[in-house]
Amino acid sequence: MSVCINVFEFSKPMPENNFKKIKDKFAAGTIVSDLEFDSIYPENVSEISKYQWSPVEVILEAVTFLAEDQNAKVLDIGSGCGKFCHVGALSRKTKFYGVEERFHLYEIAVQVSKKLKLNSNLFLHANMKDIDWSLYDSFYLFNPFYEHITNKNSIDETIPKKVSQFFAYLEIVKRKLFNLKSGTKVVTYNSFGGKMPLGYKRVKLDKRFESELEFWIKD
Ligand SMILES: C[S@@+](CC[C@H](N)C(=O)[O-])C[C@H]1O[C@@H](n2cnc3c(N)ncnc32)[C@H](O)[C@@H]1O
Repeated sequence: MSVCINVFEFSKPMPENNFKKIKDKFAAGTIVSDLEFDSIYPENVSEISKYQWSPVEVILEAVTFLAEDQNAKVLDIGSGCGKFCHVGALSRKTKFYGVEERFHLYEIAVQVSKKLKLNSNLFLHANMKDIDWSLYDSFYLFNPFYEHITNKNSIDETIPKKVSQFFAYLEIVKRKLFNLKSGTKVVTYNSFGGKMPLGYKRVKLDKRFESELEFWIKD
């Protein structure tokens, strides 16, 4: 069955009292389940979390690597409701950026960031192909273009889905990654859909999660 967001329901109020509780738990180093974390998002966003948003544990593993250098700028390619950046900024001092093409998801990410009082989040409403990747040091990709090659568990129908678009995006990502500086770190969860370009060495593979979590460094 396909689970789809109704974009007109985004004005639903967010559950206020959960923000402080979540923030306090991260500050105390207490483990927060996905069910609990996802409760800070509007219901129609949290209910597609299992398929669309990274699990908290996956994010914590990824940011340990990507944000090892506190001054690194970490970019989530296709940041959705912002969960990767929100969890990242709650657990580390590093700056987390997200680029998202769906305006309604970008808006939620910004709103939640404000409610959590996170100054270290910055979200861009753009297509990842149109921004300058060289401004960042580390990248996270959770199979962002998969929706173009499947009808299952779609976020919504606001984006025209095309198989040809999937392959075009893969070429763009490969070219952008290829041109990045030596030492660039990348984490992929369930891959980005294609093969990493030449020059990237996989330094770790974590198979404990539903999909493979892979850690890469550019020579
Ligand atoms: C599988 S979700 C991952 C969300 C988030 N990175 C996470 O791990 O929780 C993929 C997201 O990428 C976004 N996306 C897909 N293609 C994109 C593009 N070309 N530019 C920007 N965002 C894109 C989708 O709208 C969706 O929100």
